[in-house]
Amino acid sequence: MQEILKDLQVLTGMSEQDYAVLRQHSTLMQNWTDEFVNAFYDILFSYDRTLTVFPRGMDERPDREKTLRMWYESVTNGEIDGKFWWHQWYVGLVHIKVKVSNTFMLGMTSRLQQLVLEKCVSTLDKNDALGLYTAFKRVTDVVAGMIAEGYFVNYVESLENVLGFNRGLIDRMMEMEIENRMQAMQGKFRG
Ligand code: HEM
Repeated sequence: MQEILKDLQVLTGMSEQDYAVLRQHSTLMQNWTDEFVNAFYDILFSYDRTLTVFPRGMDERPDREKTLRMWYESVTNGEIDGKFWWHQWYVGLVHIKVKVSNTFMLGMTSRLQQLVLEKCVSTLDKNDALGLYTAFKRVTDVVAGMIAEGYFVNYVESLENVLGFNRGLIDRMMEMEIENRMQAMQGKFRG
């Protein structure tokens, strides 16, 4: 988990400065919480593919809104530490359990970033808007990366444990399987 966080940090350019920018604008950003939480779940509850994630249907909406609200508040408070990152990693595991694909998660991360961009542009001057939006974008891109990798790594490791596979053997078999798949898929886009 630490290594993956470090990779994402270095490659996105996220730093403590981003946390400070979020902290500095936390009151403003938290004025937008209700609107964002509503928009987020309006989308998820009006698309049949994401609706299937909520077995209790609309009855589940208040609970899900509460979860997102707490997450958004923790990001915008800018109090981001090791525990925060472990929690993002854990979200990947929870998402495996409740069948939230990374496609769904990444699509909604993009939506949230677009909503923040619109608000930044309409409420702040150009420099502050750019500063706040890019800080939010870097942090939430790293969050999305951590959730996606948390999902993938936990999925593969759980599968290995459940099936009792040996890592070395899997690696060799995977290499052959990937080669075969590459050959088969190339026909779909090469002339
Ligand atoms: C911006 C992207 C997302 C973030 C940051 C996020 C974050 C979270 C967090 C913090 C939790 C709680 C983990 C815990 O128990 O501590 C969670 C759980 C959950 N999320 Fe997501 N999520 C995202 C996208 C989605 C999407 C797109 C869906 C539905 C299609 C979804 C559905 C759920 C569900 C059903 C749970 C489990 C709730 C439970 O039974 O306790 N999430 N997510």
